[in-house]
Amino acid sequence: MSKKFFITTPIYYVNSVPHIGHAYTTIALDILARYKRQQGLDVHFLTGTDEHGANIEKSAAAKGVTPQEWTDQISAQYRQMWKELNISYDDFIRTTDKKHEHVVQAVFEKLLKQGDIYKGSYSGKYCLSCEQYYDESEMLEGGLCPVHKRPLTEVHEETYFFKLSKYEQPLLKFYAENPDFLSPKYRANEILSFVKSGLRDLSVSRTKVKWGVQVPSDPAHTIYVWFDALINYISATGVGTILCADKTEHEAHSAKIGAKSFEDFWPADIHLVGKEIFRFHSVIWPAMLMALGLPLPKKVFAHGWWTVEGEKMSKSLGNVVNPVELAQKYGVDPVRAFLFREVPFGQDGDFSMTSFKNRYNSDLANNIGNLLSRTLNMAAKNIGDLPEVAAAGSEIDKQAQTVEKTIDGYYNELAFDKVLESIYGFAGDLNKLVNDKKPWELAKTDKAAAAEVLLQLICGLRYIAEWIEPFMPTVSSEMKRRLAAGKIEKYAPLFPRLEEVK
Ligand code: MSP
Repeated sequence: MSKKFFITTPIYYVNSVPHIGHAYTTIALDILARYKRQQGLDVHFLTGTDEHGANIEKSAAAKGVTPQEWTDQISAQYRQMWKELNISYDDFIRTTDKKHEHVVQAVFEKLLKQGDIYKGSYSGKYCLSCEQYYDESEMLEGGLCPVHKRPLTEVHEETYFFKLSKYEQPLLKFYAENPDFLSPKYRANEILSFVKSGLRDLSVSRTKVKWGVQVPSDPAHTIYVWFDALINYISATGVGTILCADKTEHEAHSAKIGAKSFEDFWPADIHLVGKEIFRFHSVIWPAMLMALGLPLPKKVFAHGWWTVEGEKMSKSLGNVVNPVELAQKYGVDPVRAFLFREVPFGQDGDFSMTSFKNRYNSDLANNIGNLLSRTLNMAAKNIGDLPEVAAAGSEIDKQAQTVEKTIDGYYNELAFDKVLESIYGFAGDLNKLVNDKKPWELAKTDKAAAAEVLLQLICGLRYIAEWIEPFMPTVSSEMKRRLAAGKIEKYAPLFPRLEEVK
């Protein structure tokens, strides 16, 4: 079996309920997964939930349930949400899975034995929400957490350290030799200057946190939640068959996900993450892999953040956008497409109902939807049955093939907005062709010429139906059904127009 195209989302914290920000990372990866499958690649799409740590312990306590009950509940909500948003993941990992915990323990003990982890003590400022220490240079004025802008907590504890400092030069060498590793480029500089400014060893165990993976050789310690979480990418893909003494559960899982060995997956092709967790994935994780002697992922890509109507999304502001509610109201596909047409992937963006409705009407109802209805209506009158192959080798066919190449290039840069822009632009050209050629008038004088134009439109629409599949899988198959060879039926609009928005 050859190597799979292995791509991952971050695993989501179960300390609060999922929202559009979480959905964004997962939908992005789903779009890529679907596109690469269309291209014939053997895709393996991994997602999951991050279930250990003090925050989760606290959330569970606040609800009066055990951490396990709490994580079971929220993890299930994630899976339900992925179902409703039509996410085609291949595997879902939970960090409370035994097979994962066993790998985390094996990694910890291996690194301890080889001297990459050592015992020491730590005093510093800690953010309980980030589950991370910050040093002076990183804090905001007044000693605040740079992410949560809240006071940090002074912590003193005995802890195990991972020798991150040892990997400073190897990391810099790796970045220099693999210029596509850190993406997009404009986010790479921040990482380079962070590493160049000097890496300090990382505290990777806690004595105060009970809800975590125990250090086997020192059970008073649980393993730092980020150290635990990052390992999901290899524990879910069979590294246990190499690292663990008892391989049974790992072999069983590998068989279940259709792989013979860990090398069928590793190294990952893309880790897709949000910008705030880029550093964990481009510094700590690669250093852990170097310590383990495993190859590094090919690419870590960091996307931007969504605000809502200009404000940060937060429970206290009550402006959290629930993607499932939105999808129930307007359809899953328009929501998926909107998120990736509105903002260049990588940059920050702002969600507003006005822009959602405007784009729905302009990109979907008035452009693609209208093109499909008017073409099929005219074709029903002037062609009759649709042929298997339409207008092969025509100008439109050639133009479509050029667009297809352009789109492929954009996918390789994860420029989803440009992919959609190209598709919508092509649909716009077809609408213009209808307006210019006026097949309904042409039919009065030259029926054959009118039929030829209509067949070109059908040809173009069949391309569009294929191209939109990664973004709008349900709409795509409905479009394909309507455009299939044979009799043309009467159909309701694909995208009913939303009320006009100012
Ligand atoms: N558990 C860690 C990841 C561990 S991976 C080994 C975590 N989880 S998270 O639930 O907080 O966030 C997961 C993803 O959701 C991140 O990629 C993050 O960027 C994304 N988003 C959460 N809120 C977001 C927005 N408002 N906008 C865009 N994406 C955001 O971090």
